[in-house]
Amino acid sequence: MKTFRKSCINLLHILLLSILPFKISSSQRTQAESLIKWKNSLSSPSSFHSWSLTNLQNLCNWTGIVCDTTGSISEINLSNANLTGTLSQLNFTSFPHLTHFGINHNNFTGLIPSTIANLSKLNFLDLSHNVFHGNIPLEIGQLTELQYLSVSNNSLSGTIPYQLSNLQKVWYLDLGSNHLESPDWSNFAGMPLLTHLNLSRNELTLKFPDFIPNSQNLTYLDLGWNKLTGLIPEMVFTNLGRLEYLNLTDNSFQGPLSSNISKLSKLKDLRLGTNHFTGPIPEDIELALSMMVTDKCDIYSFGVVALEIMMGRHPGELLSSLSSSSSSSSSTAISDGADLFLKDVLDQRLLPPTGKLAEDVVFVVSMALACSRTAPESRPTMQFVAQKLSAGTRAYLSTPFEMITISNLSGLQI
Ligand SMILES: *[C@@H]1O[C@H](CO)[C@@H](O)[C@H](O)[C@H]1NC(C)=O
Ligand SMILES: *[C@@H]1O[C@H](CO)[C@@H](O)[C@H](O)[C@H]1NC(C)=O
Ligand SMILES: *[C@@H]1O[C@H](CO)[C@@H](O)[C@H](O)[C@H]1NC(C)=O
Ligand SMILES: *[C@@H]1O[C@H](CO)[C@@H](O)[C@H](O)[C@H]1NC(C)=O
Ligand SMILES: *[C@@H]1O[C@H](CO)[C@@H](O)[C@H](O)[C@H]1NC(C)=O
Ligand SMILES: *[C@@H]1O[C@H](CO)[C@@H](O)[C@H](O)[C@H]1NC(C)=O
Ligand SMILES: *[C@@H]1O[C@H](CO)[C@@H](O)[C@H](O)[C@H]1NC(C)=O
Ligand SMILES: *[C@@H]1O[C@H](CO)[C@@H](O)[C@H](O)[C@H]1NC(C)=O
Ligand SMILES: *[C@@H]1O[C@H](CO)[C@@H](O)[C@H](O)[C@H]1NC(C)=O
Ligand SMILES: *[C@@H]1O[C@H](CO)[C@@H](O)[C@H](O)[C@H]1NC(C)=O
Ligand SMILES: *[C@@H]1O[C@H](CO)[C@@H](O)[C@H](O)[C@H]1NC(C)=O
Ligand SMILES: *[C@@H]1O[C@H](CO)[C@@H](O)[C@H](O)[C@H]1NC(C)=O
Repeated sequence: MKTFRKSCINLLHILLLSILPFKISSSQRTQAESLIKWKNSLSSPSSFHSWSLTNLQNLCNWTGIVCDTTGSISEINLSNANLTGTLSQLNFTSFPHLTHFGINHNNFTGLIPSTIANLSKLNFLDLSHNVFHGNIPLEIGQLTELQYLSVSNNSLSGTIPYQLSNLQKVWYLDLGSNHLESPDWSNFAGMPLLTHLNLSRNELTLKFPDFIPNSQNLTYLDLGWNKLTGLIPEMVFTNLGRLEYLNLTDNSFQGPLSSNISKLSKLKDLRLGTNHFTGPIPEDIELALSMMVTDKCDIYSFGVVALEIMMGRHPGELLSSLSSSSSSSSSTAISDGADLFLKDVLDQRLLPPTGKLAEDVVFVVSMALACSRTAPESRPTMQFVAQKLSAGTRAYLSTPFEMITISNLSGLQI
């Protein structure tokens, strides 16, 4: 009885709506119906009460909905809306004018439907921080208007479809934190507008993806926490002069690090820790570092980069323990960074340096520590450092190398 009354009222409502002079086009109705059908398949919180056919005249004011000037839906933004469900009931064909689809930070599961490719005007797609699984549908490569694509932090697997590189307008591409595997990268085209690429925390193996050095606008590149091997192609250093952030941490890259790394003159943050780099690191790198010291690179970042190269990992922890030990007199911490032996802080995959090499190492680390001091006024000038490095200055060792501690170096007057 109750149900009967309710559907009667609904019917009345719809009849009224169709008589009254509201400007509801049939395409708006189609879009609204598609949204409702999808909503009914979700466990949706009460904040969705605006999504109702009885509120059709306010479609453009429904939670998360934006229309264009013709009244057609142009944006669906349901990020962080506490939604659980799938995309299987969403009929993408109903939204030919959609430019923005963001459902990130929810609890969506299931597959990413290949019909998402019907959103031919889409330029922003954010499915990140959900629990989508299965492959990335290769049809996504048909969304050629896309500029922003993130599927990070899901459970996606399989190889990355080469069709993604058809997305030649994309500047932001984040596939991080999934279980994605390396495809045959030779099918990938360079992506000229790409500035931000994040493939970190996946299952990538084999060699460095070769479309990357052909994506010359890259500023941010994160390949950390994969299983990539082989050499870093020289083209990374010669072609990617705009790089500011480069993170290759926790892979299995090999070989000597090229001194051409100095060509990355805009680098602000370089992370290379936990790889299998070999070879005469300090001598080459010292020269490279001296070339990296330009007006555009600030002295603190330089110090951090230099320490990272010597330590084989990011020096963040060491630096924060040094700054806290200098600012508080109550040294209760047992493993205060300053008490560490230099030999233990250095990259453990390198043989302990001896002779002139040891003097080099001590000099570079002292210099790097001075550059990364907390108080800017106690850091040396860029010009001073550049001069010392290019003159090949070495430290004079009055203590055996194994006995030198970080505090012996961090206090040095540079
Ligand atoms: C849109 O909805 C809000 C409340 O959700 C309301 O304050 C506002 O007046 C509505 N705007 C239009 C144009 O209907
Ligand atoms: C999407 O919605 C969220 C929450 O309402 C808001 O913080 C965010 O700015 C919106 N994003 C866009 C691109 O409109
Ligand atoms: C999210 O939705 C669930 C039910 O689906 C509810 O129990 C929970 O309180 C909601 N959380 C927030 C932060 O709204
Ligand atoms: C999806 O929507 C389109 C147009 O809005 C319609 O022609 C088609 O039949 C719908 N498909 C399904 C499976 O409902
Ligand atoms: C996420 O969805 C799963 C079912 O797919 C459900 O068991 C779980 O409670 C949901 N989590 C939240 C936070 O809503
Ligand atoms: C659009 O979706 C329909 C199914 O609803 C599908 O048959 C068609 O191939 C899709 N078009 C594109 C470009 O993916
Ligand atoms: C991924 O999402 C989970 C929640 O689903 C969250 O706990 C975790 O911190 C996220 N990971 C990253 C790297 O953002
Ligand atoms: C790249 O992705 C990883 C994993 O999702 C995340 O931990 C990292 O912060 C991302 N970097 C940025 C700056 O987006
Ligand atoms: C490179 O990226 C910047 C934004 O970081 C953009 O303004 C510029 O147009 C791009 N240049 C090329 C040649 O694609
Ligand atoms: C890689 O380094 C960047 C800083 O350059 C940092 O923001 C990002 O979180 C790191 N990525 C991972 C996967 O830890
Ligand atoms: C550095 O790059 C140049 C090309 O710009 C190349 O000729 C040279 O061999 C490279 N150096 C090393 C050590 O590979
Ligand atoms: C080096 O530091 C240790 C404590 O960390 C100290 O005992 C020792 O005297 C210092 N040596 C020199 C030469 O300053």
